[in-house]
Amino acid sequence: MKFFIDTANLKEIQEAVELGVLDGVTTNPSLMAKEGIKGTDAVMSHYRQICEMVDGDVSAEVIATDYEGIIREGEALAELHPNIVVKVPMIRDGVKAIRYFSEKGIKTNCTLIFSAGQALLAAKAGATYVSPFVGRLDDIGADGMLLIQQIVDIFSNYGYPTQVLAASVRHVPHLIQCAELGADVATCPLSVITGLLHHPLTDKGLATFLADHKRVNE
Ligand code: G3P
Repeated sequence: MKFFIDTANLKEIQEAVELGVLDGVTTNPSLMAKEGIKGTDAVMSHYRQICEMVDGDVSAEVIATDYEGIIREGEALAELHPNIVVKVPMIRDGVKAIRYFSEKGIKTNCTLIFSAGQALLAAKAGATYVSPFVGRLDDIGADGMLLIQQIVDIFSNYGYPTQVLAASVRHVPHLIQCAELGADVATCPLSVITGLLHHPLTDKGLATFLADHKRVNE
């Protein structure tokens, strides 16, 4: 399973890189705004910096919602760096643009996926990744993990190469369930990745090992 970090914060990205388990980065306009990145030049330069830090795919989202605009923005983003994956929303013009990018060899991540039908459509258009939003489905009382299961099964039935990128992964149990279900990738905040480190019996066991070592070595 690949781990992506869902942030535009360079310090957090660096921390995940240093842990040695990071496979890529996802961003979105809300995450860019959270870092105060505004204006095309600043946005492009920020994406370039992220690409230089990480040896893996970096999703950069278009803002346009019309076909020509999505193509224009997506091509400019793709030219920035080979790591760039153009993130396109699940809308009619987005699906058409994914087909175009796929034929041009430009990687895509179809975002804002909330149904199996949307994922199937994106896969048929040639998306590299689909991003089902687990946590946001849970927020409205739906079952985010059921969607992951459906998409994994459908893609496996037909051998679609599109990868299931579980997004809106909010906590460690979400991440583990995505892994159990066979999601190709999970993108989550740094706290979820580092959350995998912890177990109280690990802390207790280590304290005992160190205390026993000290007792006989003093
Ligand atoms: O990148 C999109 C997704 O991961 C957002 O997560 O927690 O804002 O629903 P969240």
